[in-house]
Amino acid sequence: MTLDLPDLDAMAALGRAVSAVLRPGDVIALSGALGAGKTTLARAILNGAGYAGEVPSPTFTIMELYEPPAVDFTVIHSDFYRLADAGELEELGLSSLRENAALIAEWPERVGGFGHEPGCLSIELLLKNGGRTAIVTRGTDWEGRKL
Ligand SMILES: Nc1ncnc2c1ncn2[C@@H]1O[C@H](COP(=O)(O)OP(=O)(O)O)[C@@H](O)[C@H]1O
Ligand SMILES: [Mg+2]
Repeated sequence: MTLDLPDLDAMAALGRAVSAVLRPGDVIALSGALGAGKTTLARAILNGAGYAGEVPSPTFTIMELYEPPAVDFTVIHSDFYRLADAGELEELGLSSLRENAALIAEWPERVGGFGHEPGCLSIELLLKNGGRTAIVTRGTDWEGRKL
């Protein structure tokens, strides 16, 4: 599925739509070049999930955790740009952090990607006429969820 995202309002609307159907165990894999809008969309998803505070880019921290009661369930916002391979996820303890949490991952391909997981929603952001286009690919767990 391809979505037109001409401006920031469109990003906010997609973020709300994703957050409305997001479940623990899901991964939102956000790919696209530097400046494509990955962090913008991650913020929109967190805001849609009810998080009203600031959402810093996890470029340097690699992971930021958002936990109840600020959100209904834990959401991990990560940026894997600085990681070399999937082995480094173990050092971060990601698999135990992911229990009962949703993961929003910028630069998923740096750590081998998540497309093999049924709970993965892949969103590739591309620049288009000053706005963005999204190519959305659903894991089987996402079939039937409205976006
Ligand atoms: N759909 C859009 N239309 C226009 N500008 C956008 C859109 N989405 C994001 N931007 C802008 O693009 C810039 C880079 O976004 P950012 O989310 O930091 O990118 P990334 O995390 O992919 O590097 C920001 O200034 C943001 O406001
Ligand atoms: Mg970013």
